[in-house]
Amino acid sequence: MKKIHLICAARPNFMKVAPLYHALTKEPWCDVKIVHTGQHYDQLLSDVFLDQLKIPKPHFYLNIGSGSHSEQTGKTMIGYEHLCQENRPDLCIVVGDVNATLACTLAAKKCNIPVAHVEAGLRSFDMTMPEEINRIVVDRVCDLHLTPSEDADLNLLKEGVSAGSIKRVGNIMIDSLELMRPEIQKSSILEKSKLQDKGYSVLTLHRPINVDMPDKLARILETINGLEFQCIFPIHPRTRKVIEGNLLSISYDNLQFIDPLPYTEFMRLIMGAKYVITDSGGIQEETSYLNIPCFTLRHTTERPITVTQGTNQLVTLENLMQKIKTGFSNDTSLTCNIDLWDGKTSQRIVKHLKEFLNYE
Ligand code: UD1
Repeated sequence: MKKIHLICAARPNFMKVAPLYHALTKEPWCDVKIVHTGQHYDQLLSDVFLDQLKIPKPHFYLNIGSGSHSEQTGKTMIGYEHLCQENRPDLCIVVGDVNATLACTLAAKKCNIPVAHVEAGLRSFDMTMPEEINRIVVDRVCDLHLTPSEDADLNLLKEGVSAGSIKRVGNIMIDSLELMRPEIQKSSILEKSKLQDKGYSVLTLHRPINVDMPDKLARILETINGLEFQCIFPIHPRTRKVIEGNLLSISYDNLQFIDPLPYTEFMRLIMGAKYVITDSGGIQEETSYLNIPCFTLRHTTERPITVTQGTNQLVTLENLMQKIKTGFSNDTSLTCNIDLWDGKTSQRIVKHLKEFLNYE
């Protein structure tokens, strides 16, 4: 029986971990344990996602919490190294690009435990993003690169990663979306918020570059407040802190500020939106898959396939209004057809993990 640790830490990790956890628990050859580092600890950023996605209470909780990058990364390394010493797994699986992805990879590798990275190979080529540093270091030292798309494979090959360790498996978030689609469709968030299908837009913002400087955040909110559609804005705690500290005196009539939403409510909101404005990574992918126009308020994206084959456009604060007015160059009647974004990624990952661990 192979012992596997599946690491989760922050909100975007849970929809990547859930389908894989469910697939692995059906396999007789492995014993999978959830390790939650505690990077996100709020009920609305963590527990509600575990509940909705039917991830059990984590088998191991490291309770790391917030802090500077080095504090968070260092504490997670120490916490996970202790766990590996007491409960050594045969394989550590990390997902995405958050600080815990980096920390657990480094701690596991230094204990000579192999690491598999789900969502390997994505690159924004923007070294000011903490996530880009995490992605590059994780992919440099991990053993199995499970990639979502061809561009990711090519990035890894250019960095000298051996072709044999790269397995293109598709986008695991689409597995969660398809698994949860019936629940998403049952959500009454539109009725509760008195919204009509396609009669509103959605905004999410949490990247340091957009939210950490109050002046910049104020300009973003003013611009979006001036757009035609009513805009629903579930606020990330990082962004809330800046608004509450600096911008409470300004009124934004067209923006509806709400708390972060659970997964099914949020995805229902996205499905009904006329368009989405975001700086998230995952939302670029979900909107592409669902064929919802997405305007990404960033200069770069680590998910270029959402621009070339999906519904995503990179925008600046200066051209946002114009881009929305002139609509979408990619006709929104197109349906997204990205290879292997099909809800079966976790099955493919299981097959590769079994081969990797030489389990017949
Ligand atoms: C982290 C990830 C980012 C991901 C995002 C999704 C890194 C480097 N960043 O950014 O890639 O897109 O999660 O949300 O790993 N806070 C709370 N409650 C919580 C967690 C955080 O109030 O449960 C507040 C704290 O004040 C904290 C701040 O939010 O300092 C930022 O949290 P942190 O986990 O450091 O980074 P995120 O901005 O959430």
